[in-house]
Amino acid sequence: MSFQNLLIENKGRIQYIIINRESKLNALNKDTLAELHTAFNDAFNNAEVGGIIITGAGQKAFVAGADISEFVALDAAGGHQLAQLGQTTVFNLIENGNKPVIAAINGFALGGGLELAMACHIRIASDNAKMGLPEVTLGLIPGYGGTQRLPQLVGKGKAFEMIMTADMITAAEARQYGLINHVTEQDELLAKSEEILNKILLRAPLAIASAITAVNAGLQNGIKGFETEIAEFGKCFGTDDFKEGVSAFLEKRKPAFKGE
Ligand code: COA
Repeated sequence: MSFQNLLIENKGRIQYIIINRESKLNALNKDTLAELHTAFNDAFNNAEVGGIIITGAGQKAFVAGADISEFVALDAAGGHQLAQLGQTTVFNLIENGNKPVIAAINGFALGGGLELAMACHIRIASDNAKMGLPEVTLGLIPGYGGTQRLPQLVGKGKAFEMIMTADMITAAEARQYGLINHVTEQDELLAKSEEILNKILLRAPLAIASAITAVNAGLQNGIKGFETEIAEFGKCFGTDDFKEGVSAFLEKRKPAFKGE
């Protein structure tokens, strides 16, 4: 599958999804969102892909937000639809995917760009990265999950400050607040992302998928996280990976998981 706004690269079992609108600082227009939906669906369903790293083309931006030029024609109903479609088809899809997704934040991650990074399971940023939710400067609020995921990551007070002031923060500040997991020099960003993802890829894939389901369940309204954990824990015992993991431990060897 080839895309107009994305580059897909495979490195072993890692798939890179690179947002490729550098001249617009990789802003998310409708077409790019539709392509992201397809690319993530493909990656989650492709047995050869173990995990995904999403990043932006160039050295300046991860994603500088939703494409503001597409906002001009929207009314209240159009705005509602835009947020609903984006949340369902891209942001929630990534968060609830069956494979680990790392955001390698290589520059500006603003508005929808930071929301995209927050939908990923792990965030790593280069030291030049700047992050923020500037929507109130446009008369808007974050619409791709930012009002929900930012407080989960940094706490309500800091989230209110970032959303209401619209200030950008540095990678070092983001690390301090818990918004990102690691900061690297720019030329180390992908190596660090690969190092972490390759470690995850040594673990049992179905257990990783269950962990994603259980962790997310605790953060969703109306779903009981502890009950989901019990159900997913039980499911793990029915997998070949579980038998392999325990046998390998007892036989003092490294496990060879098949994701079955
Ligand atoms: N939507 C559409 N186009 C965008 C964009 C966005 N979110 N962010 C950047 N661009 C475009 C600019 O319009 C410009 O296009 P042009 O060359 O055709 O005029 C190009 O990307 C480069 O951006 P520019 O503003 O010239 O770069 P800069 O270095 O001066 O500033 C930013 C960088 C990130 C500070 C600035 O682009 C910005 O504030 N972007 C909007 C951020 C935002 O509010 N995002 C939330 C949207 S909800």
